[in-house]
This record gives sequence, C-alpha cells and structure tokens, in this order.
Amino acid sequence: MTPRARTSRHIVLTGATGKVASLTARHLAAAGHRLTLVSRTARTTGLPPGTRHVACDYDNPALLAETFRGADAVLVVTNDPTRPEHDRNIVRAAVEASAGHLVKLSAAAVHDPAADDLVTTWQRENERLVRDSGIPWTLLQPRSFMTHALAWAPGVRDAATTRALHPHSRNACIAPEDIAEVAALVLGDDGHDHRSYRLTGPRALSAHEQTEILAALLGRPLTCLPLTPDEAHALHLLTYPRAMADALLASADRQAAGAKSGTTDTVERLTGRAPTTFAQWAAAHLHRFAPARTEAATHARAHADAGPGRVPVSVRRT
Ligand SMILES: NC(=O)c1ccc[n+]([C@@H]2O[C@H](COP(=O)([O-])OP(=O)(O)OC[C@H]3O[C@@H](n4cnc5c(N)ncnc54)[C@H](OP(=O)(O)O)[C@@H]3O)[C@@H](O)[C@H]2O)c1
Repeated sequence: MTPRARTSRHIVLTGATGKVASLTARHLAAAGHRLTLVSRTARTTGLPPGTRHVACDYDNPALLAETFRGADAVLVVTNDPTRPEHDRNIVRAAVEASAGHLVKLSAAAVHDPAADDLVTTWQRENERLVRDSGIPWTLLQPRSFMTHALAWAPGVRDAATTRALHPHSRNACIAPEDIAEVAALVLGDDGHDHRSYRLTGPRALSAHEQTEILAALLGRPLTCLPLTPDEAHALHLLTYPRAMADALLASADRQAAGAKSGTTDTVERLTGRAPTTFAQWAAAHLHRFAPARTEAATHARAHADAGPGRVPVSVRRT
C-alpha cells in the first residue's frame, strides 16, 4: 500500500498515458496528491478524486505553461528523439509557470561515453535543459524496460519462439513498475533535488535467459532465434524512422559489448525493497504470452500474487 503523504502536492505528469507515468499516477493518487495528467487525448471518466486530465500537445507551449501553473512538481516524459523541441517547450513552460521541481525520465545510456546514437544524445541534451532551467531537478536514468519482452508475445503464443539480435548479450533491464515507484517517491517528497538516479533491475539477463524464464512459467518449451543485424533493422523500420532504427542497432551493439550489464542498488535504497526480477514481472504479465486462460497462466498469476512485499502491488495489478 502506498502510504498517504503528510502534505498533498499538486503534481503534473506528462506522458500520462505512457508506461511509466500511468503507473506513477496510481502511487501518487493513492498517497493523496492532486494530479494533472497531460497527453494528447484526455480521459474524462474513471479518474481518481483530485485528478484532472488535460489534452495538451507538447507543440503547444502556451497551453503547457497554463497547465503547469501552480505545480509543485512536473514529471517530464517525452518519447520522440526527432522532436527535440518537445523538451524545450516543456522546460520553458515549467520556468514560465514557476514549477517547483522538474523530474526528468532520461536513460542510463547517458553515462556511456561510447553511446553517441540519436536517442542518447537527445537524452543528454534533455538533461542539460532540465539542469540549466534554474528549477530544482531530479534525473531518473533507467536501463531498458522489461516491457520490451511484450513484443515477443505473438511469437510466443503462435510459434513458441522469441527473436533477438545478439541473443546472448545481457541487459540489467528494469520493470517500469519500479521506475514508477521511484518517480512517485521523488515527486511526492523532499530531499531529491539535484540528484541523478541510475535505475536497473536486480540482474542482467540475455534474451535467451528471458526466454527460458518465460518457458518455465508457461510450462512449455520456447526457442530464442537469432536475428541478423539487417533483419533487426528491417523490423525497427516497421515502427520507427531510419534515424531511430539506426540508433536502436547501435544500442544493441553496445549491449553485445557488455555496456548494459551493470546493476545498481538505487531501487532498493529508495523504495526499501528489492527490485522486481524478470521472473516476477513476467509472471504478473503472463496472460499476454499465454493463449487465453491456460492453466499455466492461472498458476503463474497465483504464484505472483502469493508473495506480498516481493512483487509490488502495481505489478500484481497490471
Ligand atoms: N523503453 C525503454 O527501454 C527505455 C529505457 C530507458 C529510458 N526510456 C525513456 O523513457 C521515455 C518513455 O517513457 P514511457 O515508455 O513511459 O512513455 P511511452 O509509453 O512511450 O508514452 C509516451 C507518452 O508521451 C505522450 N506524448 C508523446 N508525444 C506527445 C505530444 N506530442 N504531446 C503530448 N504528449 C505526448 C504520450 O501520450 P499520447 O500519445 O497519449 O498523447 C504518452 O503518454 C523516453 O524518454 C525513453 O527514452 C525508455
């Protein structure tokens, strides 16, 4: 249970319909904070008391500034490296609205001197904007999200396979639920000004090892098939522009060189509990990988629900 905050704050969450901010909102609402959610389309029903959802595009600086007015803290989440003006607009609007604290969702790769791809250079520049804003700031720098495994779900369901470039390279991936819990702590509390938090899961895993974990949970064999660089690039081009596809390939090459296997104790230090393992995350999301209502999915969900304190509430509910 998220404890109630001593003082209720007005907190603005950009990226509110996305993976991290939507989970962050649950913690903050449960703690009794007043929330303003921001995304291009707004929900009008089913919002917790004290929460409003504003439809606002990052291309609209005037509306951003109006939305941020009176905010004690703003979570900054953008997701398009080809549109650097989004972060500029958000930071300028926060300054204009005299927001009290900026918390930026960045990435762990900013620390890697060998990372010069589009996504990492964009995040470094976003961090600089936040640090130079004059507003107290906190940077959240997570490793890859465990949710990337969801892209395997159709292959797992239909062909008992996963596919990955460099399938034996390891990444200390993290559950978005853990990032959200840290974000909620930082937004709702004092004492995090001018800090950067590198966030990882408990252990680095390869795609091959994640596939073995999924197979054990599902109770059926799965095969992890290697992708060639050209195949991986072509798959990225189905979703992203070429510059992003190139950046993702460079990122995978750095992973193969071992750049993403280090872990930190930051989640445990801040939340007081161990970070979610991939097995716990996968068990909580197993219905996405399993054909509807198999015995394995039911068993795994019961297993995930059985460990209070081991699996965060938000993970079990998702
Ligand atoms: N995925 C990873 O492994 C990973 C690892 C490290 C760091 N990160 C960082 O995490 C961030 C993404 O976080 P996430 O995955 O939680 O987000 P996400 O799921 O990609 O969602 C993006 C959010 O931004 C909103 N948004 C996008 N463009 C907008 C616009 N023009 N105007 C208003 N809202 C807009 C979207 O709202 P609507 O579309 O509903 O308007 C949505 O709420 C990125 O900065 C990424 O670099 C990701």
